[in-house]
Amino acid sequence: MIIAVDGPTASGKGTIAKALSAHFGVPHLDTGLLYRAVGRQVLLAGGDPGDPDDALAACRFEDALLEDPVLRDEETGGLASRVSVHPPVREALFARQRAFATQDGGAVLDGRDIGTVIAPEAAAKLFITASVEARAHRRFLEMRERGVKVALIEIQDDLRRRDERDRNRSVAPLRPAEDAMVIDTSALDRDEAIAAAIEAVTFAMGDA
Ligand code: DC
Repeated sequence: MIIAVDGPTASGKGTIAKALSAHFGVPHLDTGLLYRAVGRQVLLAGGDPGDPDDALAACRFEDALLEDPVLRDEETGGLASRVSVHPPVREALFARQRAFATQDGGAVLDGRDIGTVIAPEAAAKLFITASVEARAHRRFLEMRERGVKVALIEIQDDLRRRDERDRNRSVAPLRPAEDAMVIDTSALDRDEAIAAAIEAVTFAMGDA
């Protein structure tokens, strides 16, 4: 049983994927973290995230980097979005994601291309979305809680830039799989979004 959860930044897909993992008792992989590690590694190595060779070399990051809280920051998110446009980077990260997806007992993965590229055979595919305004507002509250001072408008601009890059790249662009169930979380709180996702996956499994 593979559950694919795709969607843009700050749509709530990470929260939903974790909740599905707990509910259905299958392990979870946040694939954005892999791209974030590559983005951070390019910086550590003094490379250029826009350069395909530098980005590919950075795919050999140490696994310990995945535990570093710095991967969660906005700067790293931007770097991840930049390295993720290079096809060799996506290929280098494919096997690891594919192995996780196909392990015995199933898995839930969240990202941008799980339902379209990594596991097109997934029994349940969710595409989580929300308006830019709703996503920026959530990110704003989250950052304020962590004591980070940033203007709402800056967050909105940054989200728009990343959406644009993630949607328009030539390889594995962000888009719902044809058979994905789309959940718009703009007007839903955390618990409502999770409930909607559990219901959708339960329905898809019943149908499978
Ligand atoms: O989900 P996130 O914000 O952690 O992802 C960071 C960036 O990584 C995102 O802007 C695009 C890239 N990414 C990707 O291209 N494919 C994935 N499956 C996951 C993330």
